[in-house]
Amino acid sequence: MDYQRVARSGQVPDGVVRRFFVGEVEIAVARWAGRVYAMSNYCTHLDCLLSSGHATEDGLLCSCHGSVFDYATGDPITPPATRPIRTYPVTEEDGQILVLLPPDATNDRPRRRQTGVTGATS
Ligand code: FES
Repeated sequence: MDYQRVARSGQVPDGVVRRFFVGEVEIAVARWAGRVYAMSNYCTHLDCLLSSGHATEDGLLCSCHGSVFDYATGDPITPPATRPIRTYPVTEEDGQILVLLPPDATNDRPRRRQTGVTGATS
């Protein structure tokens, strides 16, 4: 496993969250107080895109229903979300943001949007 280039550092200014793709994996990259964070782009409440939310002092805010997630651990700080989002190791080098994605990162897609996942039927 190697770190993969995601973006130029300037693409994620302080106080901003943006969406990026690393192959088929969709991630949110946020910066707060100068530090960059990478995480799954899907809220664990109802799968809203976290890149449509906001970077705040408390953590990454989902704009759909107000859940806030800790940048570093992905733990939900504010409900309604109760499950953590997945976070990824991230570093910056030579003006580039690099993320280390585990081999199973493609499984982080929202369950409701995955094909082949069966749920309750009427
Ligand atoms: S989908 Fe994020 S708080 Fe509901």
